[in-house]
Parts: sequence; structure tokens; C-alpha cells
Amino acid sequence: MSIQLSRRTLLGGLVGSAVSLTLSPGALAQFGPAQGVISLTSNENPYGPSAGALKAAAAATAKSAYYPGAISRDLTQLIADRHRLKTENIVLSSGSNEALCAAAMGWAKRGSIVTAALTYDLHLGFAARIGADVVRMPLNSDMSINLEAIAAAVDNSASLVYICNPNNPTGMTIDGDVLRDFCRTVSRHTTVIVDEAYNELTADPDYTSMVDLVREGENVIVMRTFSKLYGMAGLRVGYGMGRPDLVARVRNHITSWPNVVGLAAAHASYNDDDFIGFSTGKIAQGRRIVIDAFKRQGIEPLPTQTNFVFADIGRDVDAFGARMRERNVRVHRAYPGYETYMRVSMGKLDELEVFSELFNELFSA
Ligand SMILES: Cc1ncc(COP(=O)(O)O)c(C=O)c1O
Repeated sequence: MSIQLSRRTLLGGLVGSAVSLTLSPGALAQFGPAQGVISLTSNENPYGPSAGALKAAAAATAKSAYYPGAISRDLTQLIADRHRLKTENIVLSSGSNEALCAAAMGWAKRGSIVTAALTYDLHLGFAARIGADVVRMPLNSDMSINLEAIAAAVDNSASLVYICNPNNPTGMTIDGDVLRDFCRTVSRHTTVIVDEAYNELTADPDYTSMVDLVREGENVIVMRTFSKLYGMAGLRVGYGMGRPDLVARVRNHITSWPNVVGLAAAHASYNDDDFIGFSTGKIAQGRRIVIDAFKRQGIEPLPTQTNFVFADIGRDVDAFGARMRERNVRVHRAYPGYETYMRVSMGKLDELEVFSELFNELFSA
């Protein structure tokens, strides 16, 4: 049996074409969560990609016999213009994880990488596997990143500091001026990467962003992604912003470039304020549902300005998560050392209502 999907259905109302695509249920199951499963694990935005991104992606797909050309330059220019930077300040990558790994490669041979004990760390694991010394400093007792401890750990053997703001998985945001002072001081000795994957979701993105330090030519690289707010995690587009010499070093270690479909979608959605407003609204509503679900059980989640909520539920999260999984709701596995903390990513609002009911039922049982 096969499912007939009109192109309009597939592409979110793209064009009134008579063309129809035939996808088997098996093929459909290759994309996104399996049917009936609510996935709240990976901080995606299920309301994306935007309609404009889908339309541009379809046009790019038709021309995907060719390597990316002008679209890379156009997206780079758009990003540069938005941040009042030059194109030589920008490096595009296949998801920001690729730029982060490239930086790990470019800097690790010069010295250690200093970071927080609990933070996003796919690239830090990669760095360790290629032989880098990764120094992880414990969080403060309120779960915030201990900037003093990180600054104190930066000695002559350090080459790179990695700070994620807001932090994943805690969701907590470092005050803009506090982080600015830290960056100015520490970047005299080492390059500082500030990973702003979730910056666009904060209450005051311009204040919390360190892009102004990039403009000032400091030894700082800011990483961003189209995977979160823009709802394009599967399309793999990210970017870094930094001084031309720093960006060149990242670029020289990139191994996989963004594809033309992702670039086209990124270009179409970057300044789509309607979609951005719509998504941030849904994320804020979703956060409320999850926070309320925890509070209903007397659990106080950490303060979050992101599309995920982190809370100490006082129970083994892997065991609790397994019971949720039996009912087709998935949350992130436990983080080592934080076995009772649950991270819940934003799904669609109706999915979060299901999470809320199920959490309440299983927690009360
Ligand atoms: C803080 C942070 N940085 C980077 C990434 C990587 O995102 P991507 O490679 O999809 O751009 C993630 C993904 O979860 C993240 O949470």
C-alpha cells in the first residue's frame, strides 16, 4: 500500500501543481519520530521549517545536481548584514556541531579546552577522541556555569574555552554583562567560543549575545544554528562569527559543508519575522505547560529561556523515562552525575499536554 500526498500537502502549500509524490508508509517512517511517538528529546522546533523555507528548499532540490554557489554567499551576506559584520567574519557549517568540531580540531593541538562540567558536549567528546585534554569545571550550587572556576582553570596550557549560553541542558542564561566581562578577560589568553544555539529564544537576545565582542575584534567566536528556533535540525545549517583569522582557522578544519537545500531554507527563513514570532510564541506556551506539569508535583524546574526545561524530579530519570517511553512519550536520557534531572524539549502544544497528563499520572502512581 502507498500513500498519495499532493505536493501541496508535502510542501506546506507551495504551488498549485498537479504533481503528486508517492511515498510508501515505510519511506514516511524514515523522517521524524515514528508514528504515534511524541519525541521531546532533542530541542527541535516541530513547528518548522517555515513555509518560505519549504518553498525555497523545493526549488533548491530541483537544482541540487549542482554544488552550492551563490546561495552560500547570499546567506553569508545576510548573516553579516544582520550582525553588522563583514562576510570574512562568517563561516557556514553543516549544523553548528560541525563548526564546533572544526574549532576543536583547530585549537586542540595548541592546548587544552576548558569548559563547564554539565554542558552541550558532542564536540567535546569528539575533541577528547582526537586527543584533546578537556578540562571540565563543576557548576555552581544553583546549577549556573561557574565562570570564576573556568577563568581560574585557564593557564598557559589552555587554548580554548567553551561556554554555552543559554546552557544546554540546564536552560539557564548567563547575564550578558557578566559574560562580556568574562570574555574580555579570558580571551586575552585563549580563544573563547560562546555557543548561542538558543540565544534567539532569550528574553533579550541582543543583550545576552556576545556578537558585539566579535564586532570589536576580540578573541571570541559566536556559534549559531538553524536547528532550534528555525526548526531546521534535519537540514543541517549552522554558522560561526568571529575575527577573520579565527573564522579562517575554523573554516580550514571544516570537513562537511551545508547542502544547497539547507542553505536555501536558511536563507528564506533568516529574516522571516512572522515565523520567528509564531515559533517563539509556541515555545513560550509550551514551556508553561511543562513547567506547570512539574510544579503540580511540587517540582521546581530550573529557570529557562530556551525550548527545553530541566528539572530535578527526585527520581531516577532513566527508569521514569522508560515508563514514559512504554506510553510513547520520550524525554532525554539522564545526564551522568545528574541522574534525577529530566530534560524535556518542546514538542507541539498538544504533545506537551499529553506529556503533562502522563507525567502527572506516573508521578502520582
Ligand atoms: C548548545 C548546542 N550547540 C550546538 C548544537 C548542535 O546543533 P546543530 O549541529 O544541529 O546546529 C546543539 C544541539 O542540540 C546544542 O544544544
